[in-house]
Amino acid sequence: MSERTIALVTGANKGIGYEIAAGLGALGWSVGVGARDDQRREAAVERLRAAGVDAFGVPLDVTDDASATAAARLIEERAGRLDVLVNNAGIAGGMPQEPTRVDPATIRTVVETNVIGVIRVTNAMMPLLRRSASPRIVNMSSSVGSLTRQSGAAAEQTAGPVAVAYAPSKTFLNAVTLQYARELSGTNILINAGCPGYVATDLNGFHGVRTPEQGAAIAIKLATLPDDGPTGQFFDDAGVVPW
Ligand SMILES: NC(=O)c1ccc[n+]([C@@H]2O[C@H](COP(=O)([O-])OP(=O)(O)OC[C@H]3O[C@@H](n4cnc5c(N)ncnc54)[C@H](OP(=O)(O)O)[C@@H]3O)[C@@H](O)[C@H]2O)c1
Repeated sequence: MSERTIALVTGANKGIGYEIAAGLGALGWSVGVGARDDQRREAAVERLRAAGVDAFGVPLDVTDDASATAAARLIEERAGRLDVLVNNAGIAGGMPQEPTRVDPATIRTVVETNVIGVIRVTNAMMPLLRRSASPRIVNMSSSVGSLTRQSGAAAEQTAGPVAVAYAPSKTFLNAVTLQYARELSGTNILINAGCPGYVATDLNGFHGVRTPEQGAAIAIKLATLPDDGPTGQFFDDAGVVPW
């Protein structure tokens, strides 16, 4: 088994996921670059290696059972275990997403990636995570999924646009995160949700105001929690985000 901490970041070929991989790699960790497209994945691995990161490619489409199973096998063969899983891959699903006009297929597609994809990959990796001394799971969520922030007086500042596929997919993901934390309570596995803030990436046509590196910071913090750290919570750089 490798001495180095082994991490897998899904959707690591660009955006926030790439910077999470870079940040974890800068800690001296071995980082699996989970990505579905061969060329984009290899380009990211090359870039990370050029920056001194011990990066390796992990072919992974989070919507595909066989792909998740194969990714787990690849990591098992390479490292024998997984210490940290960052479920970062996500899609917005195209805007606008007005509830009264939405195509139900859009909801299915977004939930398949943003929610079921996280469950699929987490469960494929669970046997490897259980072999780690300090397993951590980080789910990249969004404060736009916060029901508290979408209701009440502060909603206009913090809720984001009306988006009936994307925002509820993150609410769903938060709820799923809590379910895992409840099942895994009493184990050494810590699982939390993180919000990167509004980051300029492909996901929002680069309208965000933060850099991908800034967006990666919360994931790196949650990936490096001490053994007595929190679990089943939702954080951004400012602290706890209300559900
Ligand atoms: N940007 C923001 O302001 C913001 C705010 C809150 C939360 N987030 C969350 O942060 C995460 C990263 O988003 P981002 O802004 O960095 O977006 P991004 O630049 O569009 O990157 C998304 C990543 O997910 C990958 N991906 C999508 N579907 C996939 C699939 N089926 N299998 C494997 N990988 C897949 C993409 O791969 P391809 O290149 O192959 O498409 C890409 O690597 C997402 O979960 C997002 O919801 C972002």
